[in-house]
Amino acid sequence: MTVYFYAILFARHPEVRPMFPPGMDAQRGRLLRALLRIVELVDDAGSLVRFCGHLGRDHRKFGTLSAHFPAVGECLLASLARYAGPAWTAEIAAAWTKAYGAVAEAMISAAEQDEAVRPAVWPATVVHRISRGHGIAEITVRPHTAYEYAAGQYVSVETPWWPKQWRYYSPANAPREDNTLTLHVRAVAGGSVSSALVHRATVGSVIRLGPPMGDMVLDAATFGNLLFVAGGTGLAPIRALVEEVARRGERHQVDLFLGARTGDELYGVDDMLRMAQRYHWLTIRGAVSHEHIPGLRGSLPEVLAEFGPWYDHDAYLSGPAPMVVSASETLTLGGTSPDRIHHDPFETPVLSLP
Ligand SMILES: Cc1cc2nc3c(=O)[nH]c(=O)nc-3n(C[C@H](O)[C@H](O)[C@H](O)COP(=O)(O)OP(=O)(O)OC[C@H]3O[C@@H](n4cnc5c(N)ncnc54)[C@H](O)[C@@H]3O)c2cc1C
Ligand code: HEM
Repeated sequence: MTVYFYAILFARHPEVRPMFPPGMDAQRGRLLRALLRIVELVDDAGSLVRFCGHLGRDHRKFGTLSAHFPAVGECLLASLARYAGPAWTAEIAAAWTKAYGAVAEAMISAAEQDEAVRPAVWPATVVHRISRGHGIAEITVRPHTAYEYAAGQYVSVETPWWPKQWRYYSPANAPREDNTLTLHVRAVAGGSVSSALVHRATVGSVIRLGPPMGDMVLDAATFGNLLFVAGGTGLAPIRALVEEVARRGERHQVDLFLGARTGDELYGVDDMLRMAQRYHWLTIRGAVSHEHIPGLRGSLPEVLAEFGPWYDHDAYLSGPAPMVVSASETLTLGGTSPDRIHHDPFETPVLSLP
């Protein structure tokens, strides 16, 4: 259905094709999931409007305008009709027409309200770049206008080398006075945007940022003690949170666990040890799963379980999805309440909203 939808959309309305990236495979699945979500929420007006609001704001960076909605609606209804076959009665058609109108209205109105308070995208110049080995680069950018975000949030990024391909990266610093932010990017094998950032971005390159997103911020913590767990470049938002604790001067005790498969891959450990020397409230421990290193042996969840219990901590987890899932299970089994376990979504954030 979605293959057909995009085919007729681009054939009937070729002016919208340049808004999309060349490869549409991932997008078809996202559209379908959004439609399923809308159907699921159809009897819960508050949640439906909230979801559509996020979707509408998210679409601003794609260049979507209210004038585009009729074209999408016409092709969407035509595609549903074609694949529903005899189930597509006049009553169903009328219901879908009404539903699409409501969704479009909620998306457009949220986008308009957002437009009144902030830009859709922020061009940002690369001002510094350090290679950290293992395909990781730290890239500092300065947005051309003020960019407000909270430590622990992530931002969407578009590069000049892969226009229309938006990916998410987490600033590794709390907000700075000079408006710069540092991203830690690992080039994944065959990955377009990450490889471009690591291998092609140089000082002076201009990328574009979407608005900051995410709830893995310090305000989500309910009590005093904090547990931070990071794997690979998942360290970025955790590092920003450590800076934020220091900036606020609050009396948190912070336990930070860094995980990797091998000692070599234990990313960012020197930087974190320096921070632990500066801040007496910060304790760093490493966990290496695939190499025997005295004092560091074990997967992150094993090492966490060994040093627990953590039920009186707010936990912030960041890294590869399997690590976050298993660390979260370890903590829940140890008595941590799920609402005190914070982590980012694993993929398209707007579709992962609770
Ligand atoms: C909330 C959030 C925050 C993120 N923060 C960071 C960050 O701070 N630093 C960072 O480096 N990345 C981060 N990511 C991952 C990042 O957004 C991209 O997904 C990643 O850089 C790959 O993009 P790409 O265009 O290079 O790969 P694509 O061209 O999208 O994918 C190419 C291939 O790589 C595989 N692949 C995609 N992502 C990964 C991955 N993470 N690991 C292994 N294989 C993968 C795909 O399945 C595909 O086969 C974050 C993702 C999310 C959702
Ligand atoms: C009911 C209406 C719509 C729904 C449910 C919907 C759904 C989605 C979803 C879920 C995404 C992925 C979001 C993300 O990656 O953050 C997306 C991306 C996108 N949408 Fe929509 N959309 C709608 C209307 C429109 C309209 C009217 C346009 C304008 C032509 C549009 C253009 C785009 C573009 C250009 C992208 C980016 C594609 C990519 O990155 O691959 N959408 N849409």
